[in-house]
Amino acid sequence: MTTTTTPTLDAAVLEELVSAAVAAPSMHNTQPWRFRLQPRTHTIEIRAALDRELPAEDPEGRGLHVSVGAAAFNLRLAVAHRGWEPVVRLLPDPHEPQLLASVRLAGRVPSAPDTVAPDLYEQIWRRHSSRQPFSGRPVPGALRSELCEAAHAEGALLHLPGVDESRRLMALTREAEVRTLTDQARRDESRRWIRARAETDFGIPPEALGPHDAAGHLPMRDFSGLRPPTLLPSQPFEPHPQLAVLATAHDRRADWLRAGLALQHVLLLATRAKVRSSLLHQAIEWPDLRWMLRDPGNGPEHVQMLIRLGYGPEGAASPRANAADALD
Ligand SMILES: Cc1cc2nc3c(=O)[nH]c(=O)nc-3n(C[C@H](O)[C@H](O)[C@H](O)COP(=O)(O)O)c2cc1C
Repeated sequence: MTTTTTPTLDAAVLEELVSAAVAAPSMHNTQPWRFRLQPRTHTIEIRAALDRELPAEDPEGRGLHVSVGAAAFNLRLAVAHRGWEPVVRLLPDPHEPQLLASVRLAGRVPSAPDTVAPDLYEQIWRRHSSRQPFSGRPVPGALRSELCEAAHAEGALLHLPGVDESRRLMALTREAEVRTLTDQARRDESRRWIRARAETDFGIPPEALGPHDAAGHLPMRDFSGLRPPTLLPSQPFEPHPQLAVLATAHDRRADWLRAGLALQHVLLLATRAKVRSSLLHQAIEWPDLRWMLRDPGNGPEHVQMLIRLGYGPEGAASPRANAADALD
């Protein structure tokens, strides 16, 4: 049963909620979001931060929408964790295209807030990308099913391909890497977002990057060849990576946002099970390769992300801007 107690949102609580939202993954850690409270309707709005777009690698803003969807998922969890009922709307105002999502605090939920997603909220602070080699230990079948159900609950699809299909997906990703490295505009763009932690709270610090795969079969993103082999020698990665393909039935802006909600739901469930993750988005940035990522056996769908799952070192976290700075 839901009561209609009016939420009281002071500045500290608002910052706590937004801190949870900004812990979400974003392409190159651009953190392409702005938050605004509408006090009259108890709604937190999320807008695209247009000064943090990636015109060369993400010209349509698809990756930006995925990032914002992931932030909206965290915000929804944080609102529920505080004991309010979150009501998420995607693209709530057709007259304001930059307003990508909103989360309304619809009243107090008297029962324990975490009954829907036990201890998922805590994972927000523990999750980050691990670009390190994983062991060959398989991801348990029960968790794999749980991840697929979570993606489905957010309006997306998750497939866990076998060895042969994974090999095909990695070959397409390798092809994307080769293309990106010879594309000056894309190279310059990703290089700009590799930034020392001491300089800025945006972008990826060099210590969060991982080694190259010594066997050359797992095409981890190179981020423009910024890893001198003498500083970070190649290492063997798991020979049969556990990939997960996140897809949606359509490819509209709302689907990109839904893919972001699903991505974050999947990543937090994996984190709770002590399974690490990193993302392989390179092939999705080339329309022809993205099209080839589809497995026609799964029916018509649009691939939104490749996720690599496994057991291994935690890897270094990337910084975030303060919640206060992300608030209008
Ligand atoms: C749309 C999108 C695309 C991404 N693509 C890649 C990628 O190709 N390779 C990679 O290592 N990380 C990728 N990431 C992960 C981000 O680099 C990462 O989330 C960000 O740097 C913040 O770090 P964290 O995940 O450790 O919090 C992507 C994230 C998003 C949302």
